[in-house]
Amino acid sequence: MSRPELHVFADARALTAAAVARWVAACHHAVAKRGRFVVALAGGGTPLAAYRQLAERHDLPWERVVVTWGDERLVPLDHEERNERSAREALLSHVGVHDEHVLGWGEGDDATLLARAHERRLREALGDPPRFDLVLLGLGADAHTASLFPGTRSVHAPGLATASTAPDGRARLTLTPRALSGAEEVLVLVSGADKRDALRRTLRREGDEDALPLTALTPPEAFVILADAQAAPSPPADGVAVEG
Ligand code: 6PG
Repeated sequence: MSRPELHVFADARALTAAAVARWVAACHHAVAKRGRFVVALAGGGTPLAAYRQLAERHDLPWERVVVTWGDERLVPLDHEERNERSAREALLSHVGVHDEHVLGWGEGDDATLLARAHERRLREALGDPPRFDLVLLGLGADAHTASLFPGTRSVHAPGLATASTAPDGRARLTLTPRALSGAEEVLVLVSGADKRDALRRTLRREGDEDALPLTALTPPEAFVILADAQAAPSPPADGVAVEG
């Protein structure tokens, strides 16, 4: 499956509830089938509400969960912009994920070296190529996803992990479309009117992969976009019903 299916929700609260429900279902399915649940978290602000709700789900088999991130900022671990720090505060510090099952991008100044090390880390822990049960992503107002930015060559980077540069010039680290496509389910969370244009262009493929990085992903199974009504094209593309 390479074209994502769109689910539209009345508001961010309903979108978050749907994201949590999908996480819970994917987690139980993966643990039952393979004995563990491997998830790549998204950075940014949209998923934080879901992470906080999951932090209260002590019924989940957290000791079977393996966590990494689809992308990271080249800042120290304790920096407020670090995706790993945000996820630890919102979720990981509240649940029983084992330290050795948290596969962060590491710290340092050389993005290329960090990307190469992370690629090795993922291959060793998750197989070659690494496979994820769930990849969470966001969408920027400029249509970037993870740290794959329009107009940069990061979309075509070989391998699984690469250095990239955000429009503000800040160095980033990101999994490549090839790595992100190695997932049983890719779930993209899109909230807010500022995302509407990027989501519309992405759904309608009004540009190539360099302009619309999410279109470079080709997950074989589930490729799902959860959007609130503020972000969804109006009327929703292909008569998509508003849920929740
Ligand atoms: C990051 C994210 C990035 C994010 C989008 C949307 O490190 O910033 O990986 O791709 O998902 O920028 O961010 P918001 O959820 O804050 O709108």
